[in-house]
Amino acid sequence: MTAGAPRVAIIGMGYVGLPLATTFADAGVAVLGLDAVQAKVDMINAGESYIEDVPSERLAPHAAAGTIRATTSWDEVRWADAIIICLPTPLDEHREPDLSAVLGAAESLSQRLRAGQLVVLESTTYPGTTRDELAPVLERSGLRAGRDFHLAFSPERVDPGREDWTTTTTPKVVGGLTEECTQRAADLYGLACTTIVRVKSPEVAEMTKLLENIFRSVNIALVNELAILCDRMKIDIWEVIDAAATKPFGFMPFRPGPGLGGHCIPIDPFYLTWKAREFDFHTEFIELAGKVNSQMPAFCVSKVARALNSQRKPLNGSRVLVLGVAYKPNVNDMRESPALKIIQLLLAEGAQVSYHDPHVSELPRQGLRSTALDAGALSGSDVAVIVTDHRAVDYELVVREAPLVVDFRNVAPDADGKVWRL
Ligand SMILES: NC(=O)c1ccc[n+]([C@@H]2O[C@H](COP(=O)([O-])OP(=O)(O)OC[C@H]3O[C@@H](n4cnc5c(N)ncnc54)[C@H](O)[C@@H]3O)[C@@H](O)[C@H]2O)c1
Repeated sequence: MTAGAPRVAIIGMGYVGLPLATTFADAGVAVLGLDAVQAKVDMINAGESYIEDVPSERLAPHAAAGTIRATTSWDEVRWADAIIICLPTPLDEHREPDLSAVLGAAESLSQRLRAGQLVVLESTTYPGTTRDELAPVLERSGLRAGRDFHLAFSPERVDPGREDWTTTTTPKVVGGLTEECTQRAADLYGLACTTIVRVKSPEVAEMTKLLENIFRSVNIALVNELAILCDRMKIDIWEVIDAAATKPFGFMPFRPGPGLGGHCIPIDPFYLTWKAREFDFHTEFIELAGKVNSQMPAFCVSKVARALNSQRKPLNGSRVLVLGVAYKPNVNDMRESPALKIIQLLLAEGAQVSYHDPHVSELPRQGLRSTALDAGALSGSDVAVIVTDHRAVDYELVVREAPLVVDFRNVAPDADGKVWRL
């Protein structure tokens, strides 16, 4: 461990918390991970990872050396010099921000906070959360934020499955309540991240993360809408995007797809929509993008129906083999995956649905298990539908053996009218 380095507690050891813990530990910083789920705590302490981006071989030496240890006990957090909150920030049943995990954690922390500690929120949320929601709860400790303890917001930018940018190399934005809070947070992340971007306030840091997510949501919606139009006009949207992407300036390619998934893009923009109402403001782009993107599963199913129809087959009774159900390639994350909606719609039309996903062995709610992807499974289907383009899938085999292919990711090789693309 690096002498004199601060001791870090990470609250919430999920897709964000566990990679962050290993990043700090790799830099020689001792980490305590707190999670409500005992099974996760036990796995971390045994050096076994449950997050695909963190191989167990990377975690195990830290667990053995004690650089990373995990607990369910809030009392242990007193040990830390810095506490980083990586808890879920979902929407509730009314699609309004649900900060209960973050504020519940703040309440638990407030009973144990020490003067001089640094608290950083990483969970995505609306501007004002750190100052107006988190600080007052932490101050129930009797300590003042920005005076007795330090408080900052630093958005997480992890992109699960991505290998070219890591938690270490992705620039880290930090905004503290005071200059000293920002400095303390920058010093902390500077131990593990190569580039620190200081901003003037937690609100700027909070809004930065939302801008990034809204930018993606809106651009994906734009290209999805054009994909539907191009389908009608019989223009190949993929070729259009590739051609547009040759412009060396002023254009950034986004690809259409079966809809948004994950914990971020479908959810985070609506944190801002909710907050904007307080300012008598309607976030039209966010709403419109949400509307367009949420129509994609239904559009995709209509495309499967048309493809089958071209072979004089109805959806009802057809054997549909869905390839890839995770929300994005090469990960096992099912949160908000559009594949679930597509499967639901296919079943509602009477299709016989099976699926293959090398990362997701079963869909318990649907009562489905991933089938082996061999020539028999493909030739025994009426149509293979590529929903998520995992690297491990042999698309040459898919196109060779399946009687019909519908491809929402543009990964299937061409094959004389057999492949229908989004
Ligand atoms: N996953 C991503 O790609 C990603 C990227 C950027 C930002 N974020 C943001 O980071 C935050 C965390 O997301 P995540 O994907 O890591 O979520 P996650 O669900 O994977 O992890 C959260 C962890 O917190 C634990 N937990 C939940 N409630 C708890 C409580 N009350 N006390 C202690 N532990 C508790 C859970 O068991 C889980 O291990 C969210 O705000 C998310 O929007 C996520």
